Amino acid sequence: MRTPIIAGNWKMNKTIPEAIELANSLKREFLDIQGVEVVICPPFTALSEVFEILNSSNIKLGAQNMSCQEEGAFTGEVSAKMLRDAGCQFVILGHSERRQYFFETDNLINNKIKAALKNNLTPIVCVGETLDERENEKTFDVIQTQISGVLKDIKAVDLEKIIFAYEPVWAIGTGKNATSAQAEEVHKFIRSFLKKCYNEETANAVRIQYGGSVKPENFSELISQEDIDGALVGGASLQMEAFVKIVKQCLAS
Ligand code: 13P
Repeated sequence: MRTPIIAGNWKMNKTIPEAIELANSLKREFLDIQGVEVVICPPFTALSEVFEILNSSNIKLGAQNMSCQEEGAFTGEVSAKMLRDAGCQFVILGHSERRQYFFETDNLINNKIKAALKNNLTPIVCVGETLDERENEKTFDVIQTQISGVLKDIKAVDLEKIIFAYEPVWAIGTGKNATSAQAEEVHKFIRSFLKKCYNEETANAVRIQYGGSVKPENFSELISQEDIDGALVGGASLQMEAFVKIVKQCLAS
C-alpha cells in the first residue's frame, strides 16, 4: 500500500512574508494530517522561515533544485547539506523547466540524485515528454531514456527512496492536463520498466506522482487510477483553497 503524496512546487513565486502567510494557512488546515504526505517546496530564500512554521506540523519541506556538488567554489549553487540545514527532507530534481531553460541532462540529474540520497534527502525526480514527442509517438521512448539515464548505477535499496513525477511538458502551466487514461498509461509503463530493471517488490513500492495543470476539478479522477500515487502541483499550490481541496481528494480516494 503506497501512501499518496502531494507536493506543492511554488516555483519562482512568493516573497518571504507571502511564503510565511501561505505556510501558516496550510499549517492550520493540515496540522495533524494523516494518510497523505504533504510537502511544500518554496523558493530557497523562504526555506528557513517556512521550516520554522512547519516544524510543529505534519507538513514537510522540500526544495526545487540543488547542486550535485558537495561544497566549494560553485558560485550561486546550493548543496544538499545546505538544504538539510534549512530543514528540507525533499528536493525536486530534473524538473522540465530546469531541463529546458538550464540545460540539465539526465547525467547531471543522476549525479544530483546520488548527492541527495547521500545526504538523506528524498528526491522527487521529474520525467515527461514534449507535445512534439507525444505527437510523434515517442512518449515511451523518451520516458524510458530519461528513467534509464537518471537511475544509472542506482541500486534497488536506493530506488525505494526515490519518488517519480510524471509531468508531460505540454500539460505544465497550460491548463491542459493529461486525461486520467493518458497519465495512467505512462505511470503503468514507468512501473513496469522499473520492474524490469529492478524487481517487482521495489517497483511496486515506488510512488509516482502526476504533474501538469492539476486542480481540484481534475484531480479526483487522476488519483483514482491504480498507478497514480499523488501529484506535483504548480499553479494550484499557490492558492490555499485549491491546494487544500487537492489534498482532501487524496484522502477521499
Ligand atoms: P502546473 O500545475 O502549474 O501546471 O505546474 C506543474 C508543475 O510543473 C509542477 O512541478
